[in-house]
Amino acid sequence: TKDWNGIDQVVLRSPQGASARVSLHGGQVTSWRSEHGEELLFTSSKAIFKPPKAIRGGIPICFPQFGNGGSLEQHGFARNKIWAIDDDPPPLRPNDSHGKSFVDLILRPSEEDLKCWPHSFEFRLRVSLATDGDLNLISRIRNVYCKPFSFSFAYHTYFSVSDISEVRIEGLETLDYLDNLFQRERFTEQGNAVTFESEVDRVYLSAPNGIAILDHEKKRTFVIRKDGLPDVVVWNPWEKKSKSMGDFGDEEYKQMVCVDGAAIVRPITLKPGEEWTGRVQLKVVPSSFCSDH
Ligand code: BG6
Repeated sequence: TKDWNGIDQVVLRSPQGASARVSLHGGQVTSWRSEHGEELLFTSSKAIFKPPKAIRGGIPICFPQFGNGGSLEQHGFARNKIWAIDDDPPPLRPNDSHGKSFVDLILRPSEEDLKCWPHSFEFRLRVSLATDGDLNLISRIRNVYCKPFSFSFAYHTYFSVSDISEVRIEGLETLDYLDNLFQRERFTEQGNAVTFESEVDRVYLSAPNGIAILDHEKKRTFVIRKDGLPDVVVWNPWEKKSKSMGDFGDEEYKQMVCVDGAAIVRPITLKPGEEWTGRVQLKVVPSSFCSDH
């Protein structure tokens, strides 16, 4: 199907009725619905679905730079580009298709990209919807250049929540984090869980591979499993920053939280011919399931 700008998007469906939508704009997942038809990702009502702007919501991919500390535009260029369908991707591990519902996309640098980031790469993304509705993203980035290059990366995942004040994130306790609100100063997490009562903009270092987002009001929990992605970003803009973003509603910060599997603090370096893989699996479960098991 096409979006209203004529950009192709691919819809994936599981036999039980879960679905996901992936746009060639940014290689971005823009919707993930449970088998009950509930939308699980947040997209702003003010989102602009038109390149060269990234879509505010879903899962933008930050590559080859996370944040604005490097020479590139904030979060890199991958999320602003039109990706192509990859008809003949090199084989993945046998269980990486997670059933039949998947799409393979590819991004190669344009002339313009090579001017600001002179490294040739092939970025292959597989998005798949498992039979049970789990959403899996696999990124493979290959150096097809004659010199090594380094990059940082994040699956900037906007989860939909009922009320941010009732949300807690588990799995980050006792970890060190860099706080973007304090010039990336390093702190240690003191709480039993991360909760929200003001703006949060952090990169947690060397996080465990399983993180949970508990939504008390909706009685559901998102479970993120990651592989190849040591760091975790947690972001909620809260009131003041929301008002400063043109493509985000003033009150929408209450209904979202970004929790990203990422590789930021120690950039990934690829030698010529080398490939890196970063995976996330997103699952939603009723909260009672978590406390009972
Ligand atoms: C977060 C950054 O991950 O992304 C924030 O740490 C930033 O500082 C946010 O505001 C959104 O970025 P953007 O470029 O999509 O507005």
